[in-house]
Amino acid sequence: MCGIIGIVGKQPVTERLMDSLKRLEYRGYDSAGVATIVDGKIERRRAQGKIRALEDRLLNQPLSGTIGIGHTRWATHGAPSERNAHPHTCGRVTLVHNGIIENFAELKGELTAQGHSFESDTDTEVIAHLIDRQLSLGDSPVTALKNTLDQITGAFALAVLIAGEDNMIMGARRGSPLVVGYGVGEMFIGSDALAVGPFTNRIAYLDEGDFVVIDHDRAQIFDASGSAVDRPIKIVSAAAALVEKGNYRHFMEKEIHEQPESCQRTLGAYTDALTSRTLPTPGLDFASVDRIQIVACGTASYAAQIARYLFERLAGLPTDVEIASEFRYRDPALLTTTLAVAVSQSGETADTLAALRWCKAAGLRTAALVNSHESTMAREADFLWPTHAGPEIGVASTKAFTAQITALTALAVTAAVQRGRIDASQEAKLVKILLEAPRLIAASLKTEEAVRALAIDTAKARDVLYLGRGPMYPLALEGALKLKEISYIHAEGYAAGELKHGPIALVDEATPVIIIAPHDSFFEKTASNMSEVIARGGRVILFTDEEGGAHAPAGVRVVIAPSSDPLITPLVMSAPIQMLAYYVAVQKGADVDQPRNLAKSVTVE
Ligand code: M6R
Repeated sequence: MCGIIGIVGKQPVTERLMDSLKRLEYRGYDSAGVATIVDGKIERRRAQGKIRALEDRLLNQPLSGTIGIGHTRWATHGAPSERNAHPHTCGRVTLVHNGIIENFAELKGELTAQGHSFESDTDTEVIAHLIDRQLSLGDSPVTALKNTLDQITGAFALAVLIAGEDNMIMGARRGSPLVVGYGVGEMFIGSDALAVGPFTNRIAYLDEGDFVVIDHDRAQIFDASGSAVDRPIKIVSAAAALVEKGNYRHFMEKEIHEQPESCQRTLGAYTDALTSRTLPTPGLDFASVDRIQIVACGTASYAAQIARYLFERLAGLPTDVEIASEFRYRDPALLTTTLAVAVSQSGETADTLAALRWCKAAGLRTAALVNSHESTMAREADFLWPTHAGPEIGVASTKAFTAQITALTALAVTAAVQRGRIDASQEAKLVKILLEAPRLIAASLKTEEAVRALAIDTAKARDVLYLGRGPMYPLALEGALKLKEISYIHAEGYAAGELKHGPIALVDEATPVIIIAPHDSFFEKTASNMSEVIARGGRVILFTDEEGGAHAPAGVRVVIAPSSDPLITPLVMSAPIQMLAYYVAVQKGADVDQPRNLAKSVTVE
C-alpha cells in the first residue's frame, strides 16, 4: 500500500525522491518522509498528510545528500501522524517499509526487554531495531539484513540506509513488490516502475524473498537463502514515466476519457481485426476446462461478475466469482479441471494473490488478468492475460475496469469457439461487435453534460440506490462503490428484482434511485420497478439507450447512452456511471483522486 523509493545518486537526490513520491502518492497519503546521508550521518524529514506537507517542511529545512530513501504511507499500525511516518530510525539504521510485520508485537516485546526503546507505534520500527542489533553484534550490513529477514514474518518491501555507508542502499521484498532501476553511475529501488520511471527505463523485478544491495554502479541480488542470483533487466515502456494529468482536473477524469483507447489497446491483445477472430492463449484450450473460478476484490470483482454472464451464456462454461478475501479462508473444494483466474488491476492485491496461490497449490491451472504486467500475480500465474489500460493513478478504478471487461469478453468468445458453442462465422460477428466498443464508449462519453447536470442534485443525497438486472446488476454494484469511495455518499447496489424484498423500504423523495437499464430483454421488468419507485414518491434516474428512453415511465430523468449489442453494453454504460460519481465528488469538493482512508493498491489483508 505504501510507496518506496531509494536513490544512490551522483547529484543531490531530494528533489528526485520527492518527484518519485508524488508518482507513488496513489499508494497511500497518510504521511510522507525522506532521509539522506550527509557527511556519513543520516538526516530525515517527515510530515503528516500528503506529499505537499513534506514539500513545505523541506522548504524550511532543506535536505542535501546524494543518497537517500523516501516513503509515502498508508497507515496500518499506528495513527497517521508525523511520529509514525517513515523513515524510521534506530542507531545506524534508517529504513522505509511497505507491508505488515506480523510478529512485530512479539519482537518488540523481546527488544524492549533487552533495553530498546521505541519512538513510534509502527511495526516498521522493529525492523530498524533488529538490523541495528545485528550490526552491533558484528554483522556486516548485508548479513545484518539477512539475519533480520530471517526473524520477521509477514509481507513487506524495504529500503534501508546505514549511517557511514555512503554508497549503498539495501532492499528486500517478501509479499510486496520492489524493483531495481539501473541508471548511468546511479542506481534506484522503488515500489514499482512508476517510482523509478523518470530516471531509468531499465528495470529488474525482484522475486519473492529476494534482497538486494545497490551502489552507484550495480545491484547485487540474493535469493531468500542468501545465494547470489541474477534477475533479468527489462526495458519498460515510456508510459511509466509519462503519468501526467494533462489538461484534466483529476486523474480520474482523464482516465475515464482514456477508455476508448484503453479498450482499443486491450482488444488488440485478444482479437485480430483483419481476420475477425479472437487470439487464443498459447497452451490453454478452454475445451479442457470444466469450470472457471474467478477471484478478485472491489471493482475487479464486478468486472468478473459481468464476465460470468458471458462465459456461461456464450461458452456454456460454469463460472464462479468470489471475493478473494472470503475465498482464501473458506477451504473451497476445487477440482483440478477448474481454471482459477485472478482479476486485478495492480496484480498485487494481497487477498487476490493469496487466493491465486491457494488455487495453484491445490493443483489448478491459474491465469492472471492484470494491468501491471510485471506484477507478482502476472509472474506467478500459469497464463498472463494482460489488460492495456496503462497506468491508472486515480484510486477509483475506471479504465482498468473496462479493460478487464474487454479482455474477459474476448476470452469468453474464445472459450465459446474452443468449446464448439459457436462457429467461425459467429465468432467473426461477435469480434466485429467487440471492435465497435471503443467508438461506442467514446460516444457514451458525450453524456458528460447531462450527467454533470444530474450530479448537482445527486450530491445533496445522503443515500443512493443503484439497480440493474443481468450484467447491469454488477454494474449497479460498481456504480454504488464508485459513488461511495469518492463522494462519501452512502450507496447500495441491488439486483432490480430484489427491490421488493427489502430495499424499497428505503425509497423516499430524498433517495435517488439510479437504474441502469438498456432496452434489452430485461427492460420491461425493470420499467415496472421504476414505476414502483415513482408510485412511492421516489426519484428515478435512468441510464439507458435511445429505445429505453422512449419507453421510460413518466417522471423519470433519463441519460441516453448509445445503443449497443448486449455483448458490449456493460462497456458502453460504464462511462456515464463513472462520470456521475466523478461529478458528484467534484460538486462536493471531495478529493477525487485520493479519497480518504483508501489506497490504490491493497497489499495488506
Ligand atoms: O488492484 P486490484 O484490481 O486488485 O484492486 C482491487 C480493489 O482494491 C480495487 O478495485 C478497489 O475496489 C478500487 N478502489 C475501486 O475503485
